[in-house]
Amino acid sequence: MLELKEVTFTVRKDGVEIPLVDRVSLSVPKGHFMAIVGPSGCGKTSLLKTIAGLNPESDGALFWDGRNLAEDGDFSPTEIGYVPQFSIAYDPLTVDESVEAATRLRVRSRDSEELDRRIDRVLEETGLTTISDRHVKVLSGGQKRRLGLAMELVSDPKILLCDEVTSGLDPRSEREIVNLLHDLSRKDGRIVLSVTHSLSHLELYDSILVLHEGRVAFHGPPEQLTHYFSVHDTEEVYPRLASQASESWHSSWGKHRASYQKMLDQNRARLIASGALRATSPTAATQPAADAPDKRPRSATAAEQLSLPGFFSQFLTLLSRRWRIFSRDRGQVLLQIAILLCFPILVTIFSDKASGNIRRYSDTRQTDVFAQIQEQQSVRADQAKVGSAVSGIIMFQVVLLSLMGSNNSAREIAGERPIYEKEKFGGLRPSAYLASKVAFLSCLVITQSLWMAFFVNFFGPFRGDFVQHAGFLLLVNAAMTSICLAISALMRTAEQASLLSIYLVGFQLPLSGAVLALPENIEAFTRPFISAYWAWSGSVEALQTQVHAAVKSVIDTGLSTQQACLYALSAHIVAGLVAAWFGSSRPQWD
Ligand SMILES: Nc1ncnc2c1ncn2[C@@H]1O[C@H](COP(=O)(O)OP(=O)(O)OP(=O)(O)O)[C@@H](O)[C@H]1O
Ligand SMILES: [Mg+2]
Repeated sequence: MLELKEVTFTVRKDGVEIPLVDRVSLSVPKGHFMAIVGPSGCGKTSLLKTIAGLNPESDGALFWDGRNLAEDGDFSPTEIGYVPQFSIAYDPLTVDESVEAATRLRVRSRDSEELDRRIDRVLEETGLTTISDRHVKVLSGGQKRRLGLAMELVSDPKILLCDEVTSGLDPRSEREIVNLLHDLSRKDGRIVLSVTHSLSHLELYDSILVLHEGRVAFHGPPEQLTHYFSVHDTEEVYPRLASQASESWHSSWGKHRASYQKMLDQNRARLIASGALRATSPTAATQPAADAPDKRPRSATAAEQLSLPGFFSQFLTLLSRRWRIFSRDRGQVLLQIAILLCFPILVTIFSDKASGNIRRYSDTRQTDVFAQIQEQQSVRADQAKVGSAVSGIIMFQVVLLSLMGSNNSAREIAGERPIYEKEKFGGLRPSAYLASKVAFLSCLVITQSLWMAFFVNFFGPFRGDFVQHAGFLLLVNAAMTSICLAISALMRTAEQASLLSIYLVGFQLPLSGAVLALPENIEAFTRPFISAYWAWSGSVEALQTQVHAAVKSVIDTGLSTQQACLYALSAHIVAGLVAAWFGSSRPQWD
């Protein structure tokens, strides 16, 4: 049984505590189907989240099977299913792939047969078997809601919370979904709480909870709703609610509560007597002994034994799903290919000039004094040209790889945050999630950096140690990818994350000091944070002596040792990963 005792959830606004859920008390026995209704903004979602443990209750207590959830530990991830207002499936995947990924992330299966059986059963239960190979993006609204339910049912939850799973559907689809939820509540003593705006099909529910400004205005059998509010039609309930203050509804409900609870108990006893509800499903206060584990239905006991898959299993599921989503996103694939091809070509076009100058510089030898002076001037001029060209080319590569890094990861977490939060609620380990991101992004970083290094070296040879140069390109791409991943994990929206990441790349060039030297006091402060400077400086240090001298002759900014550059870029990568870990571990529900 689920019991709420004076449960309150408040938020602080301008120093004032505002209750979004205000002293809600009710009991919901197993096998019960309850609708939570009320006008928009009355606190339905807030109540559902408070029950789910996503909103910490400010006051009161929640009990599940006699267990105080605040003191004795929350619902286990497999015990509870929560279908939020938004879609929790990825558009490029099929129905079958979505349910399979949900199962692999939430339930540890002994073998693939057991996994397949579970997937097939859930698809069958939600009526999705015939469209299991259809892509999510082409599903109708009703089919998407079914899929959302299917992805929650994979762990046989004992309590299923649904937020607006019927909104926006035509009357027929709406009835089908309400019927489905009703049937789900009749299996294994499952409690189904469904938030809805709609006052249609109320007869299918066991009880209706009416909320008004966070307070309970009514909780009783559906057939008593119009009587309680003294209206002829359920559609008149909301206007009637608005006619009185919520406190007044709340206090008048307090006087009638006991008699309506009695009606609910009687209805339940009738259902059990008629066989519509399993006798083994315990009633609220009347059959506490039935809560004993030995009397529970078989699959409810089985649900208790379900355990979460291990870190590695979740990691592999996420990684293969990420690759599948990436390979089906034609826009992303084309963009990556375009970047991969065009950026090195751009660098090669400019590096052609730098290579020519280097050859003339190295050929200079004269015997005549006058000619020598002339040649020396010419050498200096050439040296300056070579130095600027080589330095510019290296910085160009570094900035382009920084841009690739930001493009790789700026939207990676922020773009799927609601789904990730939902999956985390269902038992996904943030460590497995972050590890899958690191593995996926590492593939992009290695491909982009090494390809850039090889391509540019092949068409316009790098006058220095190729391995060291390629290493610094790899490090700067990894550093920027890691920092932008952190931004993605810390920002609330993908747009914010993209914008900030682009600004970060934009500031790399001016703040690196490679083009214009910064005032010393500013430089000392900014340099440690500028990945581009460290990659540029490290690469310049890898140049041949003559070319290195040419670069040094034109720059005002001091160079750092390669070791310092290596440490600085490694520190950026680690700092980015730590911040990404912090951002992805903390809850960020809207
Ligand atoms: N974290 C929050 N901070 C401040 N106010 C909030 C927060 N969450 C919700 N609210 C406000 O609390 C009220 C109740 O929100 P809630 O989402 O629970 O309503 P609802 O009944 O689910 O509405 P709808 O039917 O439109 O989905 C709204 O006025 C909303 O703006
Ligand atoms: Mg809502």
